[in-house]
Amino acid sequence: HIPVITIDGPTASGKGTVAHKVAERLGFHVLDSGALYRLTALAALRRGTELSDEHALAKIAERLPAKFVGGEIFLGTENVGHALRAEEVGNAASKIAALPAVRQALYGLQLAFREAPGLVADGRDMGTVIFPGAKLKIFLTASVAARAERRYKQLIGKGFPANMEGLLADLHSRDERDMNRAVAPLKPAEGAHILDTSDMTADQAVEAVLEWYRH
Ligand code: CDP
Repeated sequence: HIPVITIDGPTASGKGTVAHKVAERLGFHVLDSGALYRLTALAALRRGTELSDEHALAKIAERLPAKFVGGEIFLGTENVGHALRAEEVGNAASKIAALPAVRQALYGLQLAFREAPGLVADGRDMGTVIFPGAKLKIFLTASVAARAERRYKQLIGKGFPANMEGLLADLHSRDERDMNRAVAPLKPAEGAHILDTSDMTADQAVEAVLEWYRH
C-alpha cells in the first residue's frame, strides 16, 4: 500500500514549497495538481479556446502532453515551467477548474502519480476527492496579507511584473471562486490537520507535517 500525504489550501499559501520539501525529506514523488490546471489553461490560451467552452477544454485536458522532469514542467517538448507561473495563466486555470468535465478529464492522470515509495499531493481537492484515503491530510492556510506578500516575492523573483493592489484583488477573486464552485470546492478534508503558516517559515511548516506523519 503506497502512502499519500495530501496538502490542500488556498492560492499562495506556500503549499508547493512545503509539498516539495516534505517529498524530498521522505524520498517521495510529488503531484503538483495545480500545474495540470495551469497547463490546460496555457494550452487553451494559446489556441484561443474560449475559457467557457467546457467540451473543448476537457478535450485539451484529456490529451495534455504533460511531463514533469526534475522540477521542470514540459508541454510536449517545450519547457513551460516559467510561462505557467504568469498570473494570467493562474487566473485562467482557476476559471477552467470550475468546469466538471475538465476536472473529470484530469482525474486518472492524477491517480497515476501514486507510485512507490510514496506521494505528496498538492492542490485544492487532493484530500477531499482525489486521494480521500490518504494516510495524512493537511489543510495549509495563511492570512491574506502573508499570501499576497509571498506571491509578490515569487513573481518579482521570477522576473514577472507585480503590484500589491492587483495581487490582493486576484487573491480575493481566486479564493471566492475556489471555495464557492459546485464541484470540488476548496475546504478542509475530513480528518485534515489545519496548518496556519502566517507566522511560520517553510521549514517550520515542513517539520510540523513530518511530525504528524511520524505519529
Ligand atoms: O499557485 P496557486 O495556488 O495560485 O495555483 P495552483 O495551485 O497552481 O492552481 C491553479 C488553479 O487551479 C487554482 O486557482 C485552482 O482553482 C485550480 N486547482 C484546482 O481546482 N484543483 C487542484 N487540485 C489544483 C488547482
